[in-house]
Amino acid sequence: MCGIVGYCGPRRVVPVVLEGLRRLEYRGYDSAGIVYLENGKLIKHRSEGKLSNLEMIIDSAIIAPAHIGLGHTRWATHGAPTTNNAHPHSDCSGDLVVVHNGIIENYHSLREELKSKGHRFSSETDTEVLAHLIEEYLEDDLVSAVKEAVGRVEGSYAIGVLWTGLPDTLIAVRNQSPLVLGTSTEQGTFLASDIPALLPYTNEVVFLDDMELAVLKADSFKVYSLISGSLLDKEVKTINWNAGMAEKGGFKHFMLKEIFEQPQAITNTVSGRINLESGSVELPEVNFGKEDIGRIDRIFLVACGTSWHAALVAKYWIEKFAHIPVDVDIASEFRYRHLLVNDRVLTVSISQSGETADTLAGIRLARKLGSKVITICNVVGSTMTREADGTVYTHAGPEIGVASTKAFISQLAALFLFTLFLAQKKRTISPEKSRELGKALIDIATVVEQELPRIQADIVKLIDNFYDCRDFLFVGRGLSFPIALEGALKLKEISYIHAEGYASGELKHGPIALIDKEMPILALVPQDDVYQKSLSNVEEIKARQGRLILIGTEGDSHLRKLTEDVIYLPKVPDEMNPILYTIPAQLLAYEIASKRGCDVDQPRNLAKSVTVE
Ligand code: AGP
Repeated sequence: MCGIVGYCGPRRVVPVVLEGLRRLEYRGYDSAGIVYLENGKLIKHRSEGKLSNLEMIIDSAIIAPAHIGLGHTRWATHGAPTTNNAHPHSDCSGDLVVVHNGIIENYHSLREELKSKGHRFSSETDTEVLAHLIEEYLEDDLVSAVKEAVGRVEGSYAIGVLWTGLPDTLIAVRNQSPLVLGTSTEQGTFLASDIPALLPYTNEVVFLDDMELAVLKADSFKVYSLISGSLLDKEVKTINWNAGMAEKGGFKHFMLKEIFEQPQAITNTVSGRINLESGSVELPEVNFGKEDIGRIDRIFLVACGTSWHAALVAKYWIEKFAHIPVDVDIASEFRYRHLLVNDRVLTVSISQSGETADTLAGIRLARKLGSKVITICNVVGSTMTREADGTVYTHAGPEIGVASTKAFISQLAALFLFTLFLAQKKRTISPEKSRELGKALIDIATVVEQELPRIQADIVKLIDNFYDCRDFLFVGRGLSFPIALEGALKLKEISYIHAEGYASGELKHGPIALIDKEMPILALVPQDDVYQKSLSNVEEIKARQGRLILIGTEGDSHLRKLTEDVIYLPKVPDEMNPILYTIPAQLLAYEIASKRGCDVDQPRNLAKSVTVE
């Protein structure tokens, strides 16, 4: 997704904007640009490719005595990733510029209308329409012109605007694409698509909501509702992430750092929510009482990608312990099928970013149909958390790597907490069972911390025979099936190896035709309640000379008779296996991608948060 950075204040604007764009690189982009106001003139630089290309052409501008400007990293939606299509985009005069994240659905008709009025376009983008539309309405009041222009626009947008006629002011508008302000009396006022861009300068942030317009000056900001026109009293939130947390901390990649942060992410997510004496789980932010839960006939879990895999795990847990039927939907399917949702359905969205367009659309539809909505989310103040009826935050900290790891593990921890919360309210588990399961969740963080270095070493040893494979199968049964899907997704998204996850029992219904002595298959075979069945599936693979990697329980010597590539994990309560067995799957993907020299943190074609359909 595109990244926006804006600044006005006492600092030189070019270094501030470049640093901010650097911290948004993880969002995925294919061109970049910057604009600043110097001696009453707008100076614009743009380039294709990585930010380093832009830095090369900026040259002496880095010390330009300019203190207000905008920057942008573009993830192409309309128009090729060329310099000419890179933001910022200008109006005909060149005195007004715009940066934008989102999609202008009606840009074509607007473009034709503006061209008929004499406007000249220089790019293929939908964004440029915004610059000319504002110009069309602009006389001497920029705020009014922006309001009128966005009133004509259909679609999603986060916009930054700068005009030579108002040299000390940035205008920002948000509708369905994230925008956050950073405020600091000493450092000035900031605008960004996401928090990491602000952290070097301030922890005090203000999240814009849909249909809000902000007026930013060096020492102040004002936010207006585009619906009522009124001035809004927005809450300034303090983000307890420091800039360092968003750095690599000595690891080769953000992804590896975040894999090793998982024990802390579990602990941070669980702490303060389980009473170890009684075993009871408290989730006050869910604001959901016993009577609410008593009225629930069904739960819909809605998510995308890795978050959808977390939902698949949660289905097993919720149905087993809370005895509530659960449907799991991929959000892009959920929002378009005929939904049997009403006020006796609870809809739970799961999202690291809280901005995923399909998941957002899904919960908006569910609410419209009468369902209460809870979201499991990692980003404070993100759209999903502000639209849901309640939130269970995962405290994983900023996840910079595009491939989700610690956020996923934190989602599992949060969903297990939520399961215990539901089961306690419905009295479907005893206090003893609740205490036992709560302790298992707390303890798993320690187990993961202890095992991580050894698992990584084991994985590094075995990947020499696998890193150049063209295909990979991952299989698991029961609680291990969603982890097989997650392992396949991790591998394919960062190493570009074609990988598929399957339920072990499904092999003989087709995929077994793929198995020969060339095909690597990673099978998850913990000694759980479906162990014998899983072992039969492994024997089927062995009989066809599949290249087995087995992940199983310490002491299970039988596995070594099937393959030499075995990763052993300690015996933990079956319910905790999804958390523990994800670790080798993540590390296998990471080590293979790293050995293949792939861009692990920013894989090709991918974005950290998919804020468009
Ligand atoms: C997972 O590694 C991917 N980055 C992707 O599948 C991601 O999980 C998906 O886009 C959902 O994102 P969200 O959790 O922010 O909603």
